[in-house]
Amino acid sequence: MAKEDEKKESGEWKEFFWNPRTHELLGRTASSWGLILLFYVVFYTFLAGMFCLTMYVMLLTLDDYKPTWQDRLATPGMMIRPKGEALEIIYNVGETESWDSFVEALDNFLTPYNNSKQVDNNDACVPDKYFIQEDSGEVRNNPKRSCQFNRTMLEDCSGLSDRTYGYRDGSPCVLIKLNRVIGMLPEKEGQSPYVTCGAKKEDSDSIGEIAYFPPNGTFNLMYYPYYGKKAQVNYSQPLVAVKFLNISRNTDVNVECKINSNTITQLSERDKFAGRVSFKLRINM
Ligand SMILES: *[C@@H]1O[C@H](CO)[C@@H](O)[C@H](O)[C@H]1NC(C)=O
Ligand SMILES: *[C@@H]1O[C@H](CO)[C@@H](O)[C@H](O)[C@H]1NC(C)=O
Ligand SMILES: *[C@@H]1O[C@H](CO)[C@@H](O)[C@H](O)[C@H]1NC(C)=O
Ligand SMILES: *[C@@H]1O[C@H](CO)[C@@H](O)[C@H](O)[C@H]1NC(C)=O
Ligand SMILES: *[C@@H]1O[C@H](CO)[C@@H](O)[C@H](O)[C@H]1NC(C)=O
Repeated sequence: MAKEDEKKESGEWKEFFWNPRTHELLGRTASSWGLILLFYVVFYTFLAGMFCLTMYVMLLTLDDYKPTWQDRLATPGMMIRPKGEALEIIYNVGETESWDSFVEALDNFLTPYNNSKQVDNNDACVPDKYFIQEDSGEVRNNPKRSCQFNRTMLEDCSGLSDRTYGYRDGSPCVLIKLNRVIGMLPEKEGQSPYVTCGAKKEDSDSIGEIAYFPPNGTFNLMYYPYYGKKAQVNYSQPLVAVKFLNISRNTDVNVECKINSNTITQLSERDKFAGRVSFKLRINM
């Protein structure tokens, strides 16, 4: 009895899979399967088409030369070079191998600033005023030119007269750059914004005298506004070099550098990282 049931059941299953009488596979005829297949092909083709069309329309509304949204970049951070995992520059004057990676990093970073490269790629602009190159209506003024920032403008921190950027003598240079923000106009009362560095309170006796290059630590107005990577292909970010002339040895010195500019100072009331950077220096000997 039980055996017969089993036999019957497996027979039903076989018939469900392939019914030789009605020519049904899994309960459907070939034409029924064909229709289902056709339906899904049409359905998914339609979906893919919709997706492509939406993408296409969205891309049409984007401007190649200007990001539509740049919230995340709108507060200009500052960064230092050389920079490791942490913002720390710790080395021992007597041990070349403890500082030569800093020198190498600066050499690499400054290569695009070689005078010859700057002269090839960029213009000698009129200093102390914005280099405005607006589009006139729909007519693009692209590509836009950029201004020369010569490596020699960093003087003692250019790595040209002193190939070790002061690291060998315990008076190291640190380069400061302001992150690119498209369209930013950073003047302060008609003057170029400038960088000042100081020690955190407890270290104020150990930081010593500081020299700035270019003079006064300015980011000249001629490097602004920045129009974006695509519009201004050869743009060189202006730099300020800070040289710690007489920093105390064998002690941690926490330094904070900030930019003095009307627009950025306003931003930094909202965002404490805007226009400032902190790092630790320790020079052992
Ligand atoms: C840049 O200038 C330095 C010093 O004059 C030189 O050693 C280096 O090779 C130059 N780099 C390029 C890419 O021209
Ligand atoms: C960028 O630099 C290249 C190479 O020197 C130069 O040929 C080109 O004219 C420059 N483009 C702009 C827009 O400054
Ligand atoms: C950069 O240096 C070159 C020669 O080294 C010079 O002709 C040019 O005027 C300099 N540019 C600026 C902006 O100082
Ligand atoms: C540096 O600042 C001083 C005082 O603010 C000013 O007199 C001098 O002209 C500035 N130098 C440069 C090169 O901007
Ligand atoms: C360097 O700093 C020390 C104290 O840290 C001070 O005694 C000395 O006068 C300073 N030298 C110069 C040239 O400022």
